[in-house]
Amino acid sequence: MFTLAIANQKGGVAKTTTAANLADAAAELGAHVLLVDLDQQGNATALTDATARVFDGNAFGKPQQLTVSDALYAAQERAGAPVQAGTVHQVAVPAGQHWSPRLRVAPANQDLAARNGETFPGAAQRLAVGLQEPPGPLDLVVLDCGPSLGGLFLAAMHAADAVVVASEAADNALEGIPRTLEVLAQVRAARGGAAPALLGVLPTALAREARQGELLDFLRSSYPDVLAPVPRRAVVRQAEGAHAPVRAFGAAGREVADVYRQLAEHVLHVAGVRPSEEVS
Ligand SMILES: Nc1ncnc2c1ncn2[C@@H]1O[C@H](COP(=O)(O)OP(=O)(O)OP(=O)(O)O)[C@@H](O)[C@H]1O
Ligand SMILES: [Mg+2]
Repeated sequence: MFTLAIANQKGGVAKTTTAANLADAAAELGAHVLLVDLDQQGNATALTDATARVFDGNAFGKPQQLTVSDALYAAQERAGAPVQAGTVHQVAVPAGQHWSPRLRVAPANQDLAARNGETFPGAAQRLAVGLQEPPGPLDLVVLDCGPSLGGLFLAAMHAADAVVVASEAADNALEGIPRTLEVLAQVRAARGGAAPALLGVLPTALAREARQGELLDFLRSSYPDVLAPVPRRAVVRQAEGAHAPVRAFGAAGREVADVYRQLAEHVLHVAGVRPSEEVS
């Protein structure tokens, strides 16, 4: 199991679009993939049309959606209780009908805001623990981080083997990259090893104007691994509205879907996953 976080402290730079379409592409290549929504906005949950299971036996007698927030709460070490592995898998559900059948989603809603602020010892390790011991085959976990460098981002950095920093190629979007990389480096030092590695900076929603070329050159001169850019196309928003992956839009989505498929191939290669052998 390889865990990849899609991150950037900056909002609206296509983190969720990337996480969902990349996860779907990897699943279409034959991998068993879990997309974890780590944003209280629940955008990845909505985009993938994931319906959280409902638990109606809580102490308040109110039906409650089972989400990543519950998984992290259950995995926390409190009052001497042991950390519980596997809780994230317990809340995972299949993605909606347009998505790959091998894609599952750990959904989120606004409950997750409470987890973002928790800083007790062990809080940052909860996600990593909650992801341990998957009950079935699982090749790749994709973490869709929210636009913040708070507790959930730290938890993602503690759980991830590698990180893709998604960045819109716009002047005001670039500033999020160094801040995100700074925290990544701090966590890497705290973990005392090479993880999480920076898989690369992914330029997203790249338009055709000349200024965009300049920004791309700037990214390439600033960061060692700049991944193949995702073109800006109206079909991405259309797909978002339809709660579907871009690949479901056939020829109209092909350009964007191809970039995400190639990125998925790269990620699976880095992860050492050879899923094509398993495709049935
Ligand atoms: N390649 C693209 N072409 C056109 N529009 C895009 C592209 N990628 C993303 N978008 C659109 O940009 C908007 C923001 O994307 P997205 O929600 O993925 O960003 P985000 O970084 O996850 O945002 P947040 O920080 O709020 O979580 C969405 O409406 C999405 O459909
Ligand atoms: Mg998002």
